[in-house]
Amino acid sequence: MHADPKTLAVAPAGSPPEPFLRIRGLSKSFGAFQALRAIDLDVQRGEFVCFLGPSGCGKTTLLRAIAGLDRQDEGVILMNGRDVSAAPPAERDFGIVFQSYALFPNLTVADNVGYGLVNRRMRKVEIAARVRELLELVGLADQAGKYPVQLSGGQQQRIALARALATSPGLLLLDEPLSALDAKVRVRLREEIREVQRRLGVTTIMVTHDQEEALAMADRIVVMNHGVIEQVGSPEEVYRRPASAFVADFVGSMTFLDAEVAALGQVRVGAIALAADGVTKSYAAGERLRLGLRPEEIRVRGVADSDPNAIRVRVDDLEFLGAFCRARLVPEADPAQALTADFSANLMRDLDIALGEPLTVALPPAALRVFPRGDRPEAAP
Ligand SMILES: Nc1ncnc2c1ncn2[C@@H]1O[C@H](COP(=O)(O)OP(=O)(O)O)[C@@H](O)[C@H]1O
Ligand SMILES: [Mg+2]
Repeated sequence: MHADPKTLAVAPAGSPPEPFLRIRGLSKSFGAFQALRAIDLDVQRGEFVCFLGPSGCGKTTLLRAIAGLDRQDEGVILMNGRDVSAAPPAERDFGIVFQSYALFPNLTVADNVGYGLVNRRMRKVEIAARVRELLELVGLADQAGKYPVQLSGGQQQRIALARALATSPGLLLLDEPLSALDAKVRVRLREEIREVQRRLGVTTIMVTHDQEEALAMADRIVVMNHGVIEQVGSPEEVYRRPASAFVADFVGSMTFLDAEVAALGQVRVGAIALAADGVTKSYAAGERLRLGLRPEEIRVRGVADSDPNAIRVRVDDLEFLGAFCRARLVPEADPAQALTADFSANLMRDLDIALGEPLTVALPPAALRVFPRGDRPEAAP
């Protein structure tokens, strides 16, 4: 069932619209291993939400619990206001796409797409019309008679998407639908999936371990780690105001520096004194904390020695990444405090930045994020 805009419009003013999906206290263990711990989450009607996190953090487990494919041990799932916590998948209102294409190899494209409609007592002509409409939606109207093996990976995932949407589900679930595709196809399909989703207004949850994909596609990102939700927010919120060192490190890159509070707004990083706006009154002198700095926030152009946090560095390493270079910068005052900076190709050219050369950079005090000392992004397994 689709959300009816008219129904939403007559909701009493001031009361937020009821979310399409509401999850409370959801936990799931496999033997002694706890895969999900007390998950609370609301997904609004028409929203595109990404579950983002490293492999094994519980994204698929959560998606399968929502679908009813794996029952949770504890917790409640409301779908469209209805408690489906114990309902079998067939009684939940969703369509699903998996990473591997999972099309029926012995059925044509049209029969794959119409598969879920056959049992719905629809007449053959109605099914044919619906299948045509869905194939047009995913831009493959001319492929109806082919078999999956005759299609590219990207085309197969479009068919899987059409099949998942055939019954007009209220919720579309996508589990790493793009992971198996080539980089170029992946980026194009991102846009296509979003366009289809917007056109239909279907509430969608997509699982991904690719932070770039989540940033590009999601209305809201749910960042997961070890079976818990670390942060929920818009791509911009998650990137600009990461709630933990884990989020900061997993979404985008960040240099972390061990620091000690010197005074209000002042820290020492090894032998270097820096101003950091995040060091508020709640921090005591001598307190240890961690600073985080995004590579793109290190300033190079027009930096004067008198600028806040201007430091002399040497370019210790340059990694060519096409449109930009990722540089390792070693401060002259304390070579142990290496920084990562991203320099555009333009900047490299304009400033003649080269390996081994000295450079004056500024670390803007507002860009230095403050995390508790114990809050460490985990080392890669
Ligand atoms: N059926 C299962 N039996 C035992 N352990 C499982 C099962 N499914 C998942 N797990 C474990 O639960 C954790 C989360 O898995 P999963 O949700 O698939 O992670 P993700 O999708 O984030 O990569 C992993 O450590 C995985 O090994
Ligand atoms: Mg998974």
